Amino acid sequence: MKKTNLMGYVAKCSMAVALVLTFLSPARAQQTSREKLLMDFGWKFHLGNEWGTAEAPINLCVSSGPARPDFNDSSWGTVNLPHDWAVALPFDRNAPADHGFKPIGRKFPQNSVGWYRRTFTLSAEDAGKRIWIEFGGVYRDSLVYVNNCLVGRQPRGYSSFRYDITDVANYSGKNTVAVRVDASRFEGWFYEGAGIYRHVWLVKTAPLAVAPDGTFVYSRFKNNVPQGPGEINIETRLANFLSNSAEAELDYEILDPDGRKVATSRATATVAPSGTWDVKQKAYVGSPVLWSPETPRLYKLVTTIHSGGKIMDRVETEFGIRTLAFDPDQGFFLNGKRYVIKGTANHQDHAGVGSALPDALQYFRVRTLKEMGDNAIRTAHNEPTEELLEACDHLGMLVMDESRVFASDAQDLGLLENQVRRDRNHASVFLWSVGNEEPLQSEPTGARVARTMQTLIHQLDPSRSVTYAASVGNEFTGANSVTDVRGWNYHTGKAMDEYHAAHPQQPNIGTETASILTTRGIYTVDKAQGYQSAYDDSENLPRDDTTTAEWWWTYYAARPWSSGGFAWTGFDYRGENDWPDINANYGIIDMAGFPKDDYFYYQSWWSDKAVLHLLPHWNWNGKEGQNIDVRCFSNWDEVELFLNGVSLGKKAMPRNSHLQWMVPYAPGTLMARGYKNGKLMAEEKVETTGSPAAIKLIPDRTTIDPDGEDLSLITVAVTDAQGRVVPVADNLVSFDISGGGKIIGVGNGDPSSHEPDVYLKDAPGKEVTLNDWRTRLVPDTRDRPEVAEAFSDADWDRGDVNTESGPLRENTSAVFRTHFKLAAEDLAAGSIKLRFGMIDDDGWVFVNGQLVGESHDWRASPTFDIGKFIHAGENTIAVAVHNGDGDGGINKGVSLTFPNKAVPANWKRRVFNGLAQVIVQSGTEPGEIRLTAHAEGLIGNTVAITANGHPPRPQALP
Ligand code: GAL
Repeated sequence: MKKTNLMGYVAKCSMAVALVLTFLSPARAQQTSREKLLMDFGWKFHLGNEWGTAEAPINLCVSSGPARPDFNDSSWGTVNLPHDWAVALPFDRNAPADHGFKPIGRKFPQNSVGWYRRTFTLSAEDAGKRIWIEFGGVYRDSLVYVNNCLVGRQPRGYSSFRYDITDVANYSGKNTVAVRVDASRFEGWFYEGAGIYRHVWLVKTAPLAVAPDGTFVYSRFKNNVPQGPGEINIETRLANFLSNSAEAELDYEILDPDGRKVATSRATATVAPSGTWDVKQKAYVGSPVLWSPETPRLYKLVTTIHSGGKIMDRVETEFGIRTLAFDPDQGFFLNGKRYVIKGTANHQDHAGVGSALPDALQYFRVRTLKEMGDNAIRTAHNEPTEELLEACDHLGMLVMDESRVFASDAQDLGLLENQVRRDRNHASVFLWSVGNEEPLQSEPTGARVARTMQTLIHQLDPSRSVTYAASVGNEFTGANSVTDVRGWNYHTGKAMDEYHAAHPQQPNIGTETASILTTRGIYTVDKAQGYQSAYDDSENLPRDDTTTAEWWWTYYAARPWSSGGFAWTGFDYRGENDWPDINANYGIIDMAGFPKDDYFYYQSWWSDKAVLHLLPHWNWNGKEGQNIDVRCFSNWDEVELFLNGVSLGKKAMPRNSHLQWMVPYAPGTLMARGYKNGKLMAEEKVETTGSPAAIKLIPDRTTIDPDGEDLSLITVAVTDAQGRVVPVADNLVSFDISGGGKIIGVGNGDPSSHEPDVYLKDAPGKEVTLNDWRTRLVPDTRDRPEVAEAFSDADWDRGDVNTESGPLRENTSAVFRTHFKLAAEDLAAGSIKLRFGMIDDDGWVFVNGQLVGESHDWRASPTFDIGKFIHAGENTIAVAVHNGDGDGGINKGVSLTFPNKAVPANWKRRVFNGLAQVIVQSGTEPGEIRLTAHAEGLIGNTVAITANGHPPRPQALP
């Protein structure tokens, strides 16, 4: 048992732990006070660095600019999270190639700092609770202000972080959070995006509760063989923020994948004032259902904390019961059986949305990889978005969880600890990686850093091994000499064999393999266009240490001591390429999620599906009679190829390989037949299509949740008159959407397309200052005729409303009047804000003769929504002001703010080799969403998506 203290206060603790198998009595089930509220919607956003960092050097809660709650952000745009502002910037040839030619970074200061603001409400009932604001990830260097108080800075762009804002929160209404994000510096050599690109949450707990990420649950079996009962190890960190020590009872329930209670356990603890206390407990589950990618069955631990007869907290933690092991001779073992890693490394961006992936897109990507037979993902080269891990837990995908930073300083070890604490309950995580190809990897320093990181991981997680992705060959120096598992980036071949022979005690895994550049649907290298060919050929390799898919997989598959490996990469990603390419096309799947031909190579040897895939397409107009290189990926025993019904020969399919024919081109049908034990099992054909005639929209899901988050990924296919996708089509297609949904991005997988991924909907709002005022003294402010719309003020004195105080002396009253003109289109906005810097002391505000509100606090900046009092043409504002003490009047300026204008965004995208993708997101109302696609000369198409299912998640309200 380990005791830490929260605020430097150490007190004596005592505790007793009792292991009991019991059931909770229903009488004790009272409302728990933990709430986790989504804060993704309705942020105001501004790109620009007008206010510096807004920090005060040492003083708390005296910040400036947008950090101040009274800052006027009404002219800013409105965005929902996750949000990546870089994806909406235009491509710029002079911008960093590594980051996808987006004008961001030190050379583009105007695009590299962004501010986000929003409010949330707390009530008197929240006083006494702990209030946290949690960020899944912000790229990068964020400063977070709550109610003008700087609550924290997080320079790293991939770490999740949270701030305890209990002390600075306002418990009687509105709270303002402002986040400054500075993406001027990079952390990687690949597209990283910019902004709050993961979820934000508001979490409320009782003052005695499970500490943040304070649950750890993992299973163990005798001799690490999953037979008989599973020992479930439960560790709970309790946090007590009270000034007195607290007695706590911890009740544990374990629910099996079908929701049945299969074990319970109870412990008691005395937690010191202002301290934490770690409780370790065990429970046993007889004959558990084991988690694996093929059987992603999850258990749930429900931890309930009681104190003083009340439920203080209830936390649900999903986990998987399974065993992991690495063996130097037989590779990786899952649940006691050899299990070959058929993996892909992946960065985290996608077409249309950049690095800001809604959860449904994480699920889409995992499903697409799984379909290929991929059973593991490497989160290259950083801590993943937590929702990706959830998708992997639920859909069944192993994860190698990597740290962006290879360092052992206190700050970075703290972040590593957070990463491990956050991710260690995820069934999918099977291996930690402490770094990738670091400059110090072979040095003694590299060995020490790797050892320190590995030791910390082992302390926090005794259930998993650690590796390091090394780009050196047969070298047992530096990081390689200390990590549990030798990680291989490339060097597939002799160097690996020699290393294994020289270091037979160390297990091995291919942390990064292949790195072949291919372009979907292109079959000749065209450097000017930025296209590689889709053939799995060495002409597509960028460097000597990289290999084709077939080369690395054949090598790994033949070595029982290898654990398998991760191909670089599953999906294409932005950056890391030369103009005109803005994507790195290392992917087996393109940016939009469309498979390239190599997908079917892997699928034939990795999945249990029957695969018969022919390449290339058969539209070679003008190449009649010329030899075309035809290949087949299949896992049938033999394949026979036919052109227009004539057999070109039957060939035996070599394991882990492919078949090839040179075929003189003639339009028509190329057909393959797959045989098993001499029996015809399958047929596949590619046909010469007609010219583009129609559009077909194919949604991945036709029913989505009306929660403002869920998605349908809609494939846009251009077909010929017979409905066959035209593999060379490049038509420009436009999209309209109606119903409650919206388009959030478009893509087509073309690595050198410079079309926008995002079409912005809002035209920015405007602020108009009202300077032209007239004023006249009046005996009192009651029932003044001077406030009437038609009253003539032509002969009144001019009034200055921009001064700090005045012009009224003590105990005087006056009426101030001004006029402004509005066009009919200004009224469309609905809400228009009239803002006074100050009304000193009392004011009654009239628009066109109607009272819109009063102000009685000279320190406030009163703001009124005058949308329903105005009309097109001339409008009049009249304010009756009474000044009590000192000098008074209307001061510090008056302005009108027009909100952002919603203008229909003209979404469009060219299809690339026949295909494009539209990402449609639900609104928060159930109903039908209709997407229509049209293009010149083509028959259009409409698809209907039903938004019906889970409502929005619990939200932090503004
Ligand atoms: C590796 C590196 C990856 C990527 C790849 C491209 O060495 O780890 O991040 O750059 O090369 O081939």
